[in-house]
Amino acid sequence: MGAIDWERRLFDELIPLPEGTSYNAYFLQGSEKTALIDTADPAKSDALMAQLESIPHLDYLIIQHVEQDHSGSAPLVLEKYPNAQVVASTKAVPMIEEHLGIPADRIQAMADGDTLSLGNWTLEFIHAPWVHWPETMLTYLQEEKALFTCDLFGSHLATDELFSEDGSKVCEAAKRYYAEIMMPFATLIKGHLKRLEAYDIEVIGPSHGPVHNKPEWILDAYHHWAHDEPKNLVLIPYTSMHDSTALMVDYMIEALNDRGVHVHSFHMSKTDLGEYAIHLVDAATVVFGTPTVLVGPHPSIVLASYLTAALRPKLRNAVVIGSYGWAGKAAEKTQDLCGALKVDWMEPVFTKGLPKKETYEALDQLADEIAARHKGLETGA
Ligand code: FEO
Repeated sequence: MGAIDWERRLFDELIPLPEGTSYNAYFLQGSEKTALIDTADPAKSDALMAQLESIPHLDYLIIQHVEQDHSGSAPLVLEKYPNAQVVASTKAVPMIEEHLGIPADRIQAMADGDTLSLGNWTLEFIHAPWVHWPETMLTYLQEEKALFTCDLFGSHLATDELFSEDGSKVCEAAKRYYAEIMMPFATLIKGHLKRLEAYDIEVIGPSHGPVHNKPEWILDAYHHWAHDEPKNLVLIPYTSMHDSTALMVDYMIEALNDRGVHVHSFHMSKTDLGEYAIHLVDAATVVFGTPTVLVGPHPSIVLASYLTAALRPKLRNAVVIGSYGWAGKAAEKTQDLCGALKVDWMEPVFTKGLPKKETYEALDQLADEIAARHKGLETGA
């Protein structure tokens, strides 16, 4: 159940959704009790409520995650079924009261590992904090070996195909989702993946995108994204106002390619931020390219550097290159914006005005250093 949001193009007023998204809900008809897992974004409440018209009775509304794209229609569902109880993790209880205005006496708190019987079916609740908020839990339908995961293993993809049988079609959307939503929590995800190894899982039902009826590929993909070493890949997020920085970036791309290093550059005034985020999953080095604007980096590089740090990728190395008109501290300020990013910063290369012979020599030296640091890293994404 739920809704396909074909037209939505932005999430959290930040994350691009080039292929829309879906808000999946799952109705479980047990032999004695009924349950609905998750709801839909408030913008799509009508679609969900229309589907519920054919369902006369609901015992449990399971809220796996309080973010409104999944729980936002819960008040309407509870209004329709006044005897239904909300089931949620212990941490979710105050959040449901705060964000949705649902009173605590309608909520049944589930500790990690607690079970709930629907008669012939047993639901086991697995606390999975930080995928994507601290209260998130997964629901395992034991008899059917079905795991419901809300944001985890999801993809922002509007499609009328229920199942992700062709993993390759969904993989790009799932990787984008991992990069934007899950990557900051990679360390915790490793723990969740380890724990899930103890479960026999035949199907995974996320609350965004298609259902994984052959779940091996998405489990494998998450394992690689969260565990693998970074690849032999340099990202160059850059912008340029009067071509000085662009000339340096072009030179740097060729210099790195000549040394066997793969590069992906992103003109940040034009690039979909999600494209940049996807490549951050694999990259070993980032080279920020920026002109100087009012003594600091260009605003599009302010955003890129802040986002890079916030997503906590596996990057090992970073450097700032760019240009200035008369003075400035664009390199230092870019580095400051990256704050907690755990990387080894290399010496910046800046030019006053157009790049000159010595600028290109400095870029050659930088390319040598990056190539040396990338030695032994695997190629490919
Ligand atoms: Fe799809 Fe964190 O909500």
